Amino acid sequence: MCLPLLLLTAGYGADNPWWTFPDAPPPEEYGNLLINRTSEKNGVKAATFSHWIHRLKYSCRVCHFELEFNMKANTTEITEEENRAGRYCGTSGCHDGKASFGHDKPDCDKCHNGNRGYGKEKFSNLSAFPRRELGNGVDWTKALRKGLMSPVDYLVIKPSSDISFDKRIKLEAEWNNIPPAFFPHKAHVAVLDCNNCHPDIFNIKKKTTKHFSMELNLKGEYCGVCHLTVAFPMNDCKRCHPGIQ
Ligand code: HEC
Ligand code: HEC
Ligand code: HEC
Ligand code: HEC
Ligand code: HEC
Repeated sequence: MCLPLLLLTAGYGADNPWWTFPDAPPPEEYGNLLINRTSEKNGVKAATFSHWIHRLKYSCRVCHFELEFNMKANTTEITEEENRAGRYCGTSGCHDGKASFGHDKPDCDKCHNGNRGYGKEKFSNLSAFPRRELGNGVDWTKALRKGLMSPVDYLVIKPSSDISFDKRIKLEAEWNNIPPAFFPHKAHVAVLDCNNCHPDIFNIKKKTTKHFSMELNLKGEYCGVCHLTVAFPMNDCKRCHPGIQ
């Protein structure tokens, strides 16, 4: 079968002939969401949320493990009542009116403005961060390692310090001639909880998660849960398959 060989010579990236990648937003909007499960239905504009603004201060695990936001837009049952009662955005230490703006009248539009690019004037604060071409245009792994940012790792529930797991796993592709993908636990557990991936996205035993194929990744499964919308995108081939040129 000569498809993989063709692939190796055909070039990769957004114009890759085999897969369709989602349209890339401008770097300052990558990872930005408009949350609109209930907003417009209830007479306010969609709530804007920027991952790059928040990830500078909080690790993924704070929101996606402790605060129980799902990793799929518009699936968490966030309501204004819960926000005011100190859950979700309104958690103590967050948008509680003390640590950061709260849920009183003058501040509604800071969230309910329907503007996906809200806050982009602050993007230039990242100009000293290590660069990468795709996604936010930032190498977040390097920025963290170099101490250019130090996001809070927990609000109440500490990461379990007796579990540290550094294993880099080699994931052989099922096509011939394709350099394997590598999964580094270290870069992930620096910002995520084991529970963010195990057991829902990946089995905890190497090579037992079935059919990790690029097609499924690009449908938002497996690596594609994060690497399409928030972490660096799937067309940055080399970062996962270092052998691909
Ligand atoms: C820190 C961000 C934030 C602020 C400030 C905020 N909201 Fe919200 N609000 C949200 C989010 C997120 C949702 C869930 C949106 C969705 O799923 O459509 C929401 C939901 C709502 C909804 C949808 C129905 C419901 O009750 O859940 C209404 C109405 C609403 N907010 C009104 C307001 C008003 C009025 C203010 C100011 C007094 C306000 N919000 C301030 C983030 C915020
Ligand atoms: C300050 C809180 C916060 C932080 C920090 C945070 N997220 Fe999120 N994330 C959210 C919210 C809120 C949503 C939307 C949930 C909803 O609408 O149901 C979301 C949604 C997502 C989605 C779904 C996006 C989509 O388009 O459907 C992914 C993937 C995701 N987050 C990954 C991450 C990763 C990876 C990190 C760390 C680099 C991270 N998040 C850090 C709050 C956060
Ligand atoms: C971002 C997702 C992610 C996070 C977070 C994560 N893992 Fe994994 N883990 C994986 C993947 C992917 C595999 C490989 C699965 C496969 O090949 O089927 C794996 C495999 C494993 C394995 C099996 C290794 C082997 O050689 O068989 C163990 C044990 C494991 N993880 C433990 C942990 C622990 C402990 C944590 C938290 C400290 C953690 N993982 C956090 C994605 C993750
Ligand atoms: C739950 C979210 C999530 C999942 C699932 C996930 N990642 Fe990541 N990954 C991240 C985040 C966040 C980073 C930090 C870099 C960034 O945000 O761009 C990262 C970083 C990496 C890096 C580090 C790159 C470097 O420069 O050192 C590699 C490689 C990587 N991921 C590969 C994978 C592979 C392969 C899979 C699937 C087997 C996977 N990831 C699944 C969230 C995730
Ligand atoms: C976020 C990590 C990640 C990125 C980025 C990535 N891949 Fe993959 N790729 C994987 C994983 C994981 C597998 C499956 C390995 C396995 O079967 O265990 C895979 C499998 C493959 C396969 C084998 C066929 C299949 O669908 O399983 C090919 C070909 C491939 N990748 C090419 C590419 C190309 C070309 C790019 C850039 C356009 C790319 N990959 C970007 C993680 C990634």
